[in-house]
Amino acid sequence: MSGTSLDGIDVAALATDGERRVVAGPSLTVPYPAPFRERLRGVLGGIGASAEIAAVEVELTRLHADAIIAFRRKHPETAFDLVGFHGHTILHRPDRRQTWQIGDGALLARLIGVDVVADFRSADVAAGGEGAPLAPLYHAALAAGMTKPIAVLNLGGVGNVTWIGDTAPDILAFDTGPGNALIDDWVRRQTGRAADIDGALALAGHASAAHVARFLTHPYFARKPPKSLDRDDFQGTIPDGLGLADGAATLTEMTAEAVAAATRHFPGPAREWLVCGGGRRNPAIMAALARRVGAPVRPVEAAGWDGDALEAQAFAYLAVRAIRGLPLSLPSTTGAPDPVCGGRLFRAPH
Ligand SMILES: Nc1ncnc2c1ncn2[C@@H]1O[C@H](COP(=O)(O)OP(=O)(O)O)[C@@H](O)[C@H]1O
Ligand SMILES: [Mg+2]
Repeated sequence: MSGTSLDGIDVAALATDGERRVVAGPSLTVPYPAPFRERLRGVLGGIGASAEIAAVEVELTRLHADAIIAFRRKHPETAFDLVGFHGHTILHRPDRRQTWQIGDGALLARLIGVDVVADFRSADVAAGGEGAPLAPLYHAALAAGMTKPIAVLNLGGVGNVTWIGDTAPDILAFDTGPGNALIDDWVRRQTGRAADIDGALALAGHASAAHVARFLTHPYFARKPPKSLDRDDFQGTIPDGLGLADGAATLTEMTAEAVAAATRHFPGPAREWLVCGGGRRNPAIMAALARRVGAPVRPVEAAGWDGDALEAQAFAYLAVRAIRGLPLSLPSTTGAPDPVCGGRLFRAPH
């Protein structure tokens, strides 16, 4: 998995039948080299020369192969016979029936000698769905034995939530708003650092109530789910005229307020919130969430899950579902009119 934060590649092993059986194996995160991260950032939006996009796609695929080879070296005991390759989203415009993940499934299958499932989102978008979020069916499989309703919140570059109720398939999922991406962008522009590590800046600053209030007037929050976002859909709300710490505090409040706004669309309150993704490591975000959602907010580790590997595990789960012909999305997770199968299988040459 290569998430919208542009931080790197997550590799995770999962033993699964694509249904109830989910046994997590080891995982590994491989950060992108800084120069590649900037090249990848440069093709976001799908703008720019097609030759550059194609070159970035090849490089991204090679980096995924390297990550898998590193994983093999580190965990030689973990055999696997299928790889789910999400690729990297450079454009997501479901309203125009467009979603674009770069990553060459055929090349990856050749480089690692293992069958690859790629292209997870386009069938859903072609069917009229949002093409995102896709992790919810995996969240529901993980939560099968738990007391519900619960909310699983993934705070990557963008935030997405899965509400899971009592009787399957009682599930609702959608993107909440910005996750870490705007905070990262703010800190990077002002300091050159990649993130507000441990929320130190936000905790030292004061949020601007006026900026947060203006942010909340964005029509996205009132829109009924399912709904999804591109990484930079909220770029226009990055505050001007604030100092470094106050800007970080303001953007952190925005992330939390967007999640609070999401609860208005839930069928009922969640009794517990489980948070995965890098945002769970930011105590300023976690505290801001806890002040707002009216239920305990804990990292997914509280349920015994691995919050850094969850998204990558989800695409392993979906890869198995894809080859078994099971749907990857439901009307209540992406808004597609019917459950949609998806993914494309690329066989490794013998
Ligand atoms: N210790 C930390 N303090 C604050 N933010 C963090 C910390 N660790 C990770 N993050 C944030 O998490 C992001 C990565 O989260 P991740 O779940 O990998 O997102 P994505 O799925 O979009 O790649 C980083 O860009 C950073 O903003
Ligand atoms: Mg990431």
